[in-house]
Amino acid sequence: MSVLEIVRKVADLRARTAQFRAAHATIGLVPTMGALHDGHLTLARSAKLDNVRVIATLFVNPKQFSPTEDLAAYPRDEAADAAALERVGVDLLFAPDVAEMYPENFSTSVAVSGLTQTLCGAVRPHFFGGVATVVTKLLLQALPDRAYFGEKDFQQLQVIRRLVRDLNIPTAIVGVPTIREADGLAMSSRNAYLSPAQRRIAGALPQILQETVAELRTGAPAAPVLAAAKSRLHKSGFDRIDYLELCDEQSLQPIPVARPPARLFAAAFIGKTRLIDNWPVI
Ligand code: PAF
Repeated sequence: MSVLEIVRKVADLRARTAQFRAAHATIGLVPTMGALHDGHLTLARSAKLDNVRVIATLFVNPKQFSPTEDLAAYPRDEAADAAALERVGVDLLFAPDVAEMYPENFSTSVAVSGLTQTLCGAVRPHFFGGVATVVTKLLLQALPDRAYFGEKDFQQLQVIRRLVRDLNIPTAIVGVPTIREADGLAMSSRNAYLSPAQRRIAGALPQILQETVAELRTGAPAAPVLAAAKSRLHKSGFDRIDYLELCDEQSLQPIPVARPPARLFAAAFIGKTRLIDNWPVI
């Protein structure tokens, strides 16, 4: 088994990627904020299958947290993350500090309009600007052939696809299907915040979404189906629903009746923990 090398400076990352490219190795990039679970490791495994070299990044990006969201409390365990990445055969970990990514007088941001104004963007207006800026930087720093993102964050995936297309970044964006726990709950670093009782409630989300998808597939009008699903989520113990919407998965705009390519999107709170999920409809 290879030993995972860790670099913290962009110059060192560039030196290693130049060596990989000189050896004609294709490069897959797996950007993460750490607190790795099997969903992240599946991204790394997919990258291993498609590329000769795999680079993971670990950076808890302050620009995608609002002042009211607790950046300081975000789970961090670099040693455990590095060990997990090494086990799946990742070659290099880029783990910069904040000053390396955002040096003094950092003044540039990447804004993707339209796609970022619905769903999570409507309730977390700071979020996609932070994601778009850091992902653009990571792609330009590593210039990978392919970069891997989970479909659990489907809106994020579409935003990244759009920015890569619009800015002519020469990286193929690969979306990887959501990895789920035995009861269907999408794997997420945030699941660790749930108490055992909250974790039991969380299992209702994928179950209700799947049943809602089945109803939407019959061609039923979305509004009453979604209203009934929201009421079931509340009855199951969810405290607040940010959104439950049937959308066109390309434009991310709500649609009144399912038609291809339709996807169901949800974000809901149990206590202070916000869970998101999505399922393809047709
Ligand atoms: O999905 C995440 O973990 C983050 O949003 C990402 C893509 C690593 C950017 O910080």
